[in-house]
Amino acid sequence: MVENLTVVRGSKKVIEDVAFTIRKGEFVGLVGPNGSGKSTLLLAILGFLNAANGKIEIYGEPSTSNRHLGKIGWVSQAAASLPPNIRITVEELVRLGTLTRKNMFLRKGRNQERITEAIEMVGLEEVIHTDVARLSGGQRQRAVIGRVLASEADFILLDEPLVGIDRESRNSLLKLLDELCHSQGKTILMISHDMAAIRQTAHRMIYLEETVKFDGPSEEFPDLEGLANLRGIEHVHSDHVHEHDKEEE
Ligand SMILES: Nc1ncnc2c1ncn2[C@@H]1O[C@H](COP(=O)(O)OP(=O)(O)OP(=O)(O)O)[C@@H](O)[C@H]1O
Ligand SMILES: [Mg+2]
Repeated sequence: MVENLTVVRGSKKVIEDVAFTIRKGEFVGLVGPNGSGKSTLLLAILGFLNAANGKIEIYGEPSTSNRHLGKIGWVSQAAASLPPNIRITVEELVRLGTLTRKNMFLRKGRNQERITEAIEMVGLEEVIHTDVARLSGGQRQRAVIGRVLASEADFILLDEPLVGIDRESRNSLLKLLDELCHSQGKTILMISHDMAAIRQTAHRMIYLEETVKFDGPSEEFPDLEGLANLRGIEHVHSDHVHEHDKEEE
């Protein structure tokens, strides 16, 4: 739950008066232009950035609460660009997702099943022992998603996880994420530039541009023209008036 959230970075209000509630099992697509504050919002939800105003709660507790440790997964915008000097296989990378403070010193076999399952889910069985540095961009992206799947996180935040992924893997990933929501009750908040793709899969869309300009079922998400209206952009050739069926919140 996010309530009148305002986040300031430097001296600039990046997002202002943002409010929404995400229910368990929902798959929410977060979209908006470059620099509109999407990553900032995610970082604030994760508790990495302080709110200048407003509040954020996850399962009824502040997002900074210790109770959320291991329960919230994050795939960052730059997650797939690991430093080139790190030598780590796909399996090792995914295993990192299963590390918690509790099991850090337990024997390695314990989580093997979850690790193998996660690698299968993202379709990387064939490169399980390959160095992550030698994978294609899309494969690497799937590996970092595999890592979050292997964790116990049930609230998963993804920042542009589809960048650099070919259409086929992208569709199978979206389907996979959707299935996780339906069958395992995971909750997903995902940023994407690919509005068409995310709209097809997400149950709900939030359009952020400093503040929330649209929040509703994906089927009702406006087309390009509707978006321009949302953003207050005037059409140069507006010789016809459209009835836009704007839903009241
Ligand atoms: N560390 C920072 N210090 C000050 N301002 C920042 C910082 N990081 C980002 N900003 C500013 O915050 C605004 C929102 O950035 P943010 O990264 O949240 O946008 P975004 O919606 O994720 O964009 P993109 O689609 O390009 O990833 C931008 O105007 C940016 O200049
Ligand atoms: Mg961003």
